Amino acid sequence: MNRNFSAAYPGSFDPPTNGHLDIIIRASNLFSKIIVAVTDNINKRHTFTLQERIDLLRESVANLKNVEVLPFSGLLADYLEKINSFVVIRGLRALSDFEYEFQMALMNRKLNKKIETIFLTPDQSYTFLSSSMVKEISMLGGSTKSFVPKCVELELKKRFGNR
Ligand code: COA
Repeated sequence: MNRNFSAAYPGSFDPPTNGHLDIIIRASNLFSKIIVAVTDNINKRHTFTLQERIDLLRESVANLKNVEVLPFSGLLADYLEKINSFVVIRGLRALSDFEYEFQMALMNRKLNKKIETIFLTPDQSYTFLSSSMVKEISMLGGSTKSFVPKCVELELKKRFGNR
């Protein structure tokens, strides 16, 4: 473990999936503290409110003692300066993620040269998973049981009334 070293895992998490959780667990084994930094992605229309996504994440990571879930708004680079933590964790599921993630990592470093981005790969079984796909499955009546934490599954059922 990287002692006394924190890292932030930013995202919109709409909703959090087992793939996100897999990355959080891996990161929590590498750093003394992980801040899951939740925000509204201005390029997306979210299904769950910021507070709902925070609550779902908090419940999902309740057993991980060195993980904290916090909201942020504005630029990630500014938020990292505010919390004095400059390592960003992002998950890379497939080659298709690379271009966007690479661009974001370089832009964040341009905005604040102290920022380093570390990419973690989730378990192979989560490489196909995405929040939109989970929502689509739920809306169309499918089961999301094996893709999301229990609390998210229940919330999706409440929202979309599936099995
Ligand atoms: N397992 C499963 N799914 C994963 C995943 C994993 N390990 N990693 C990513 N995903 C999926 C998500 O489910 C999501 O799917 P969706 O597009 O269907 O919703 C997608 O990949 C990415 O979502 P997520 O990782 O939750 O975050 P994001 O891409 O929405 O977040 C921010 C991007 C919030 C980090 C970025 O917009 C940001 O930093 N915003 C702040 C403003 C700013 O600083 N802008 C300039 C950035 S350079």
